[in-house]
Amino acid sequence: MAKFILLINNKNYPVEVEPNTPLLWVLRDKLGLTGTKYSCGEGICGACTVHIDGNAERSCIVSVKDAEGSSITTIEGLAENPEHPIFKTWIELEVSQCGYCQPGQIMTLAAMLNKNSSKQEIEKEMSTVLCRCGTYHRIRKAVSKLVE
Ligand code: FES
Repeated sequence: MAKFILLINNKNYPVEVEPNTPLLWVLRDKLGLTGTKYSCGEGICGACTVHIDGNAERSCIVSVKDAEGSSITTIEGLAENPEHPIFKTWIELEVSQCGYCQPGQIMTLAAMLNKNSSKQEIEKEMSTVLCRCGTYHRIRKAVSKLVE
């Protein structure tokens, strides 16, 4: 076990875990930040996406020791601004179905929008975040509304 201080949503969180513990487990099981979802656990599905220093990263394959010293933002941090254009668009277009993958979808999109990525780049990146309900058509509609 080792001690780490993680900067998450602009707050410092001290944690004591094995250094190779995935950030996802710390967020969910140690800190109760359960908005970030676990699905594949192998970096494939995107459900666990958070921002690390502004980049969309899959928290199931980032260790705590690698995350320390970076600024981490979770969906709870983004939700501190309920007027965020992504949330407004998501609600307006009723994008979600079961909702499970949506934090990962939204965090991926938010990182791309913050970098002024092109619609093509965003669609390419978003296509790597899986949705078992198949809400892709509504996600694409929301991306179009936000980008154009
Ligand atoms: Fe992390 Fe699927 S749970 S990518």
